[in-house]
Amino acid sequence: MNLQIDSHGRLRHLLTLEGLPRAALEALLDRAQAIIDQGADHAPGLLAGQAVCTLFFEPSTRTRLSFHRAAQRLGADVLNFDASSSSTTKGESAHDTLRTIEAMGVRGFVVRDRAEGAAAELAAVAGEATSIINAGDGRSAHPTQGLLDMLTLRQARGRDFSGLKVLVVGDVRHSRVARSDLHALRILGAGEVRICGPEALLPPPAEMEGIPFAHDLDEAIQGVDVVMMLRLQRERMAEGLVESLEDYHRDYGLTARRLRRAAPDAVVLHPGPMNRGVEIDDEVADGPQSLILRQVANGVPVRMAVLETLLSATGSPSPAPGS
Ligand code: CP
Repeated sequence: MNLQIDSHGRLRHLLTLEGLPRAALEALLDRAQAIIDQGADHAPGLLAGQAVCTLFFEPSTRTRLSFHRAAQRLGADVLNFDASSSSTTKGESAHDTLRTIEAMGVRGFVVRDRAEGAAAELAAVAGEATSIINAGDGRSAHPTQGLLDMLTLRQARGRDFSGLKVLVVGDVRHSRVARSDLHALRILGAGEVRICGPEALLPPPAEMEGIPFAHDLDEAIQGVDVVMMLRLQRERMAEGLVESLEDYHRDYGLTARRLRRAAPDAVVLHPGPMNRGVEIDDEVADGPQSLILRQVANGVPVRMAVLETLLSATGSPSPAPGS
């Protein structure tokens, strides 16, 4: 069952970019760009009188605050659910939490959880008028991060991704950002996508779907147009998947010297939060090829486009049937 798209072809929930029709993905990016073009002071107010709840069971800075800002700019009230002070500490389930907040008249839920499939499970039991947005579930998906990364690439390189060589570096195995980016790049027809990281941090072969991978970053980065760095999740050291942060930096850290092997106008993305001096050096993170703060800025219009599309009566770009 496709939980995301209703029987009228409208996007009802946003759980994953996997399998999303290209038209629906492009409509979201177009809408986000239109919001930017209208100016930061433009506040459409399309969700006036509605309420959005940020239901986060894992920490976040960028995603939670940019959803908050996006909902405010659309005129919605924002309820900020704090798991640590909520009745989930008394054993209340996520489902009962959803039903309780729905009963207060909330229609939009932005959900982050360490469990894979958590947002989809809530979507399966949500009321008919409710929309669930996945703000990151385990290692599975982070669709709005994927969207804002694609918008950032579009702004830097244009809408046609067919000539782009993209390199994704780091802990792809445990990264929901990487999964959403790889789905989006495939849907948008990126010319060439490669993965680079240590063997222990690469996805199982069944998940690679033909994406070439490499272990030598100095070779893999040659001539690429886009370098997408991933955060090294430090718990991987405790699991013995990474020897030491120093070794990781030596083999997979993006230094200015390494970046010079990419195309001269290559751009660098990182979803944040960064481990400076581990997967990326200050000189690169703060350098002229870095789009990292532009990614953050794009988070607000992208999330406005998503909220508007799911929650406003007029804002749902319908993908063409079968597209
Ligand atoms: N990129 C990202 O999801 O960051 P936060 O964990 O700060 O939301």
